[in-house]
Amino acid sequence: MNFSLDYFDRRKLFYFWKGRVALYTILKAMDIQPGDEVILPGFTCVVVANAIIYTGAKPVYADVDPQTYNVTAETIAEQVTDRTRAIIVQNTFGLSPDLDPIISLAGEHGLYLIEDCAHGLGATYKGRPAGTNTHAAFFSTQWSKPISTGIGGVAYVQDDELAHKVGELVATLPQPSLREQFLLWAQLLVRPLADMPALYYTLISLYRLLTQRIGLPVGSSIGEELQGTTMPPGYLQAMSPLQHRRWPVLLAQLPQKVKARQKVAQEYDKWMTSFGLQVPYRPDYAEHGMLRYPVRVQNKSEILQRAVRMHIPIGDWFVSPLHPVEGDLLPWGYRAGQCPQAELACAEVINLFTDRPLTPKQMVALFG
Ligand SMILES: Cc1ncc(COP(=O)(O)O)c(C=O)c1O
Repeated sequence: MNFSLDYFDRRKLFYFWKGRVALYTILKAMDIQPGDEVILPGFTCVVVANAIIYTGAKPVYADVDPQTYNVTAETIAEQVTDRTRAIIVQNTFGLSPDLDPIISLAGEHGLYLIEDCAHGLGATYKGRPAGTNTHAAFFSTQWSKPISTGIGGVAYVQDDELAHKVGELVATLPQPSLREQFLLWAQLLVRPLADMPALYYTLISLYRLLTQRIGLPVGSSIGEELQGTTMPPGYLQAMSPLQHRRWPVLLAQLPQKVKARQKVAQEYDKWMTSFGLQVPYRPDYAEHGMLRYPVRVQNKSEILQRAVRMHIPIGDWFVSPLHPVEGDLLPWGYRAGQCPQAELACAEVINLFTDRPLTPKQMVALFG
């Protein structure tokens, strides 16, 4: 079954400056309060935990399955307490978790279920598009996601009452400043340069320096979000007109883009088999969107260094349970050793881009 836009009720789509703001707004609409607990994967991006913490609630981490890199009903059940109010599940690398048992678990305990589809736009679960299976979901349209407006986020809120509340909250959001909109526009202009392998790592380093160290406001994550748990100024903003214009155009191209990514992944499968490496697991219940092609290796840092040296763009998601923060994760409520499978995946998994396929020469240089 292929992804189809017809599944989405357009009146229930809401637009944000970033995906994390969509998540925060969903949590607020759910009336998540200080003292509440929200379960999330221990293999995610730190901004997901931040959105929970900004509501005053406590993030509680569930381990992932070593094949799917997703949480399961079993790993979630271990973390449910009488303070749990919501569960966030994630489509890691473009693969949906096995949702039906998780939906049953959430139903039994009266919990909200949120799908983090930052990686999953265009993928399906039992024939249904990612994002249409839970009370609420959000997508990211940041640089590295299935379609990109530079940065950006969209919420899809199925539950009628929640959709009404999210709509009310969205109406209060300010527009990004003209400076931020201009910077985003300028970045969109130079972004195609990053598709040139020789420039990729230089531009990524420059981008991280400007956004994370110098705090240039148009970045995926500004420094404060990686250093602490206080909401930075300018976090709560609506989607700008520039992002709004790009989104429907790109969305129309999504089905072909996903098909092309899946085809590249099939080619990668042949290479992995020839190198004696495991191909990504594709369970029967889902169609993998293949945003990224995960490969488990025993020498992750060596391969990443080799890739930089040889100008071969590849990905390191996730370097820690709360990517990209490394070291002490206690400020986010994560204790070392809490999610052993997730930590192992952080140490062993690299990912290949599926929108700009590696050449046979690059494959051999990396894995041969
Ligand atoms: C799994 C996951 N969830 C959520 C997000 C947040 O999306 P955004 O950057 O649009 O806020 C990201 C990436 O940044 C992500 O990788």
